[in-house]
Amino acid sequence: MPFVERVFSGVQPTGNLHLGNYLGAIVNFVKMQETHNCIYCVVDMHAITQGLDVWGGPAELARNTREVTAAFIASGIDPKKHIVFNQSQVSGHAELAWIFNCVARMGWLGRMTQFKEKAGKDRENASVGLFDYPVLMAADILLYRATHVPVGEDQKQHLELSRDIAQKFNNDFGDSIRSHGANDGLFFPLPEPLITGPATRVMSLRDGTKKMSKSDASDNSRINLTDDADTIAQKIRKAKTDPEPLPSEEKGLEARPEADNLVGIFAALSDRSKADVLREFGGGQFSSFKNALAELCVTKLAPIAGEMKRLVSDPGHIDSILNEGSDRARAIAQETMNRSKDIVGFIRRR
Ligand code: TYM
Repeated sequence: MPFVERVFSGVQPTGNLHLGNYLGAIVNFVKMQETHNCIYCVVDMHAITQGLDVWGGPAELARNTREVTAAFIASGIDPKKHIVFNQSQVSGHAELAWIFNCVARMGWLGRMTQFKEKAGKDRENASVGLFDYPVLMAADILLYRATHVPVGEDQKQHLELSRDIAQKFNNDFGDSIRSHGANDGLFFPLPEPLITGPATRVMSLRDGTKKMSKSDASDNSRINLTDDADTIAQKIRKAKTDPEPLPSEEKGLEARPEADNLVGIFAALSDRSKADVLREFGGGQFSSFKNALAELCVTKLAPIAGEMKRLVSDPGHIDSILNEGSDRARAIAQETMNRSKDIVGFIRRR
């Protein structure tokens, strides 16, 4: 059965949204709206999988959920044409995750690098939810039978797992799927990751070999979407570089992670290729490139920060967007849940 193309992606409401989230994910969310029906989710259930010190407790979670919603809208996502909602309002995510828990294999989850990184050495003390995180992620996507998932590089392995789960479900329940009307035995699509653009993995401004991340102890390592113009300019000026001038060709960025990162950020923010950026700045010193980059960052990000501030000052409005989005998401989810239950053999009220 050919699947109707649909886009789904999610962002966790944990701490500061940063330039990596924006360039690796949100910019592409905005672009996909032109060609696809899109569903964008604030994944508050994923947010509580780590310790309280990471997600900050109930008041912080609610505040962050509204802030991520505001970031979506301030960046150009249209919650009327597409769907914006928070995960916990649609119970199908947890229900489908349970079915998938019985499809996925311990060995698959044990190989997830993000679990290994986040659990650290003390695995015995990690929550079951953290281990199960990618199964819930597969449920998020497949609850809407989404075919395309825009994400940053770091989510690639999780997307592969989602495909494995979809495929195993289709295989395990193939006969039942056929007896419920899908002659090709395919109920779930194998979702495709969309990892595109020159900034699919934005690195720390302090260390070009480490990913820019919400959890880095140094605030100077990242540009937060809520940073003001002065802070942005200062962080760019302080960003680590090397003593060589910028190369004129992309090949010259190899083995120069900090230079590569800054050029990638410039390219992504100006919607140009890295080669094109180097044609303009190659041979020059970092100081003048950094000035241009700081100006570009401020021009692009300051209006978003301003709009986010305006939006979060009216939490009632944000909540109404999330409620309306959840109602629309629930209608699609309900259909998938009903059919999934029939396929598995769960009796339901008709
Ligand atoms: P999260 O909240 O960690 O990050 C949100 C998005 O930002 C991307 N990203 C980056 N991209 C480039 N450079 C970086 N330094 C960087 N840091 C983060 C992430 O790849 C992601 O696209 N598991 C997901 C949330 C999720 C999800 C889903 C995504 C839950 N269910 C279903 C897609 C589909 C996560 O933790 O993202």
